[in-house]
Amino acid sequence: MGVGGGYAAAAAGEGGGRSTLALVPTMGALHEGHRALIRLARERADHVAVSIFVNPLQFGPQEDYSRYPRTFGTDLAVCAAEGAGLVFAPAVEEMYLPDRQVGVSSGQMGTIVEGAFRPGHFDGMLTVVLKLFNLVQPDIAVFGQKDAQQLAMIRRMVADLNLPVAVVGAPTVREPDGLALSSRNRYLSVADRVTALALSTALREGARHTRPKDILHAAHAVLDQAAQADPPLALDYLSLVDPATFTAVADDHRGEAVLAVAARVGTTRLIDNVVLTLPA
Ligand code: PAF
Repeated sequence: MGVGGGYAAAAAGEGGGRSTLALVPTMGALHEGHRALIRLARERADHVAVSIFVNPLQFGPQEDYSRYPRTFGTDLAVCAAEGAGLVFAPAVEEMYLPDRQVGVSSGQMGTIVEGAFRPGHFDGMLTVVLKLFNLVQPDIAVFGQKDAQQLAMIRRMVADLNLPVAVVGAPTVREPDGLALSSRNRYLSVADRVTALALSTALREGARHTRPKDILHAAHAVLDQAAQADPPLALDYLSLVDPATFTAVADDHRGEAVLAVAARVGTTRLIDNVVLTLPA
């Protein structure tokens, strides 16, 4: 496995047709969810590159950039064990010029739902993803469905900017009790974790229904109860949205919808979602 900062080169195939390269962009602190992304990437391409870069541009001033877990040694072992051929782990100074001027705008879509609570987040995220695409030049890129709006925004950027990369979404990996895996779960105390379970429980309760109003009502009931717990859950949003645009669906909506939730427990902010198919 090669490890590089600065530049990454795809391993070229020996003779025959052109070999394909998949990129798995990450911010490190790799867990079972990332392992699943790397495994999916291996199924879809001949070679897999993993990028590890905690991107300062996508964190707000009050967010957890400085305390974000950095576990580079273990991350390298995970990448090697899962068969990644290359790890690209640039330093911040290698990625951004000190007088950087130009970046990607996530447009109006970057200001709604998750974007309403994290101003500038999607601009910073798309900027680094575009830079990673340019540096690594993958044929495909794999992202987790856990960050559903991130995935939708990346698909939108690929369409709007004609990027020659096929975007693949991978299902969310969960703990046996339902908690979605996240690098931020390690911030949770034992009591926090009990309260945090309300996110996935709310989504599961919502998913038992088929009408938007009933879905939201059932999920809110779980979250309202968790708001009374110790520690309490502080809800940022619960939204039922179109998977491509992230605009709220109407009550007569049919077909796919994403039930997305974000909440704070103690000092940790968590997000989760489930994709539903609403029957005619
Ligand atoms: O999902 C993440 O870990 C990050 O947002 C990403 C896509 C690697 C960009 O920094």
